[in-house]
Amino acid sequence: MGSKAALGFHSLTDEVTRNLHVEGTLPPWLSGSLIRNGPGAFEIGDVGVEHWFDGLAMLHKFTFGDGGVRYRNRFLRTDAYESARNGAFESGFATGTTTLFERLKSFLIDAPYDNTNIIAERLGGRYLALTETPRWVEFDPDSLTVKDHVQYGGSEPAGNLACAHLRRDPNTGGIVNFETEFGRTSNYHIYSMTSPTERNHICSIPVSEPAYMHSFALTPNYVVLTEFPFVVNPLDLLRPGKQGPFIENFEWKPDRGTRFFVIDRGRGTVVAQPRTEAFFGFHHANAYESGDELVIDLETVPDADAIDTLYLYRLRAGELGVFAGRLERFRLTPDSPGEPYIERELLRDGTALPTVSPEKWGRKYRYVYTQGTDQPMTEWPQEILKIDTETGNVTRFSDGENNFSEPIFVPSPNGEGEDGGVVLTVMLDVSAEHSWLVVLDGESLAERARARIPHAIPFDFHGRFFPELD
Ligand code: CO
Repeated sequence: MGSKAALGFHSLTDEVTRNLHVEGTLPPWLSGSLIRNGPGAFEIGDVGVEHWFDGLAMLHKFTFGDGGVRYRNRFLRTDAYESARNGAFESGFATGTTTLFERLKSFLIDAPYDNTNIIAERLGGRYLALTETPRWVEFDPDSLTVKDHVQYGGSEPAGNLACAHLRRDPNTGGIVNFETEFGRTSNYHIYSMTSPTERNHICSIPVSEPAYMHSFALTPNYVVLTEFPFVVNPLDLLRPGKQGPFIENFEWKPDRGTRFFVIDRGRGTVVAQPRTEAFFGFHHANAYESGDELVIDLETVPDADAIDTLYLYRLRAGELGVFAGRLERFRLTPDSPGEPYIERELLRDGTALPTVSPEKWGRKYRYVYTQGTDQPMTEWPQEILKIDTETGNVTRFSDGENNFSEPIFVPSPNGEGEDGGVVLTVMLDVSAEHSWLVVLDGESLAERARARIPHAIPFDFHGRFFPELD
């Protein structure tokens, strides 16, 4: 990819609020706000971070209404941001040279690291920016200023490492999540919640070597943790004097295989834990129940080397040539009398950041929207794909060498079927050196509109569309 996509890893300093000029026509029903989260800057002055995942959180808000788009971007003024402004980047995911004990104190224990750059969510009427520590940042959805920190302090079991990818229950509207508690015996704690400060414990799973898991699967009756064999010895993790960034303490142990913990939500128990061959992954695309089977669609990579390939010195030099994602479908039998089985099927090779319609979360569905890449990945994603999981058909959108963010599908309120709606994505124009908001037709991926953003947005992580923020 050479130097062009290095623009996606530059540090942005602008914070702006303005109406964007729209080319094309926005659907008249499109109303609400897309809020995207990701690293806005990787350095301030002479100091910086080493890994893409550690850039300072910046929110980008696109508000649709009356045929126009209003844009606002702002760094979250977190403790991590203030420290960086004062010349000290705090310990992050894969950056740092302080001792591990100090790192853990700041990343996991005392006042955990608050560089919440992964996603924005609404929970109990509050808007939260999340990362993988249990200390969330509440922001004002209009001004994007920080209002508060939110950390669970109740009596239900809680952990040191939190999953940033909350799952919304399609039937109840409630949220399910899990946290990992490190200790002599470690635990995965699975719980539901209706607000950031109230939770109901569902199940805890004791493990001797906890794994790094970035997301999980939820259906009406089950929670599934996909436990990759990328694990840490928790006693090593907590021992004073060890050196190195948080994630570098995890070890790839392929002999363990990958294990699916299937938890019956009603009974609060693990009902199956089948293992299959070792693989790693970050994102579950969707899951649903089908007869006696659980269907879990997950983006996999062969191993945890993917993390090493995302250090900034490599990305900025254009050193990719690594394994891109693979969208795969796993079928499990959670509750059958015989041995549980796992069937594995490749849906699409060369994907990144797969999403589905929010109306289909946890339900039988058909379409996945994702970035598309070559395999192995030699360029940052230059396509948006729509994958029909029933027929295998793939529909594409591309615009020369330009790069895309994660696609977010917004359903039309007119009940036009699963793909009736639009796909929102941010496109980095590598020649003009600024980004565009691009609006694609959900069915055909034809471009319906684009709006010029006044600067180049660094490659970010996740977005969420909030219809109520109009
Ligand atoms: Co993620």
